[in-house]
Amino acid sequence: MFDVLVCGSLNVDLLARVARLPSPGETVLGKELQRLPGGKGLNQAIAAARMGARAAMVGAIGADADGAWLASWLAREGVDGSLLSSREAMTTGLAYVCVADDGENAIVVHGAANTTLTADDVRAAVTTLQPKIALAQLETPPATVAAFLEAARRNGARTILNTAPALTDGRDLIALADLVVLNETELAHYACASSDALVEASLKTYADRARMLGASTVIITLGARGALVVDDREFVHHAAPTVEVIDTTGAGDCFCGTLAATLARGATLQAATVDAIRAASLAVTRQGAAPAMPYRHELRE
Ligand code: RIB
Repeated sequence: MFDVLVCGSLNVDLLARVARLPSPGETVLGKELQRLPGGKGLNQAIAAARMGARAAMVGAIGADADGAWLASWLAREGVDGSLLSSREAMTTGLAYVCVADDGENAIVVHGAANTTLTADDVRAAVTTLQPKIALAQLETPPATVAAFLEAARRNGARTILNTAPALTDGRDLIALADLVVLNETELAHYACASSDALVEASLKTYADRARMLGASTVIITLGARGALVVDDREFVHHAAPTVEVIDTTGAGDCFCGTLAATLARGATLQAATVDAIRAASLAVTRQGAAPAMPYRHELRE
């Protein structure tokens, strides 16, 4: 039995460092370019494994050098990738990541092979790997994510949905998750009329909006302000430590992977949230997504 099964994307991240993110129509000059493993699914699986979970991943890569490279990263990190699908006619997912001097990022994802992951692929993975926790995001087709969460529930797994990136058809998936994790932008997308309606809102406003999603439990990640755990009875805020931010890419993935690994060990939701915040706070002090994920012993240190 696996602790955590991640259904999701695998991308090669082309990371360009810039002084500041370009405005619409503007060209800015890059200072440095790196090729790094990424994809929300791969990042979350590696985060869970580095936190000590027996982790596995179901996803799709191209039958190309990029796909082989990402699969080898998973293997090196101890993530079971035996149920990755390799697509002959497709290229592996690619993400263009711009990271500014203040650590903020802007990302464009070319899904490629990730868009071919099917319901049959993920149902087979759930049945074969028997996870305690099933974790998904939205860089694979929504119908596939739905099949994954449904199969995991039928199998007795706890289901976690990270609704990133915000998609128009992502809303319907929320009912299939025991726990939903989203950031402020995604909360605005799924629970508000206007996309900027929640910037710097009060914690109570966040909690009220989160309850409108209809999920039994929601965690809103608030960046430097930590995270808010919301259910129908209460909301609990956990602050984040102050850190020097280098790159925020993959911070949400680090949070989700750590949360899943810690819950699989039997921790309470509040304790797992505290660990997830600490892990994400460490991840943003390093460059890149997957390579920046911290190890469990670093949380104690
Ligand atoms: O969440 C960060 C990730 O988003 C990057 O690694 C990139 O690949 C995109 O999927």
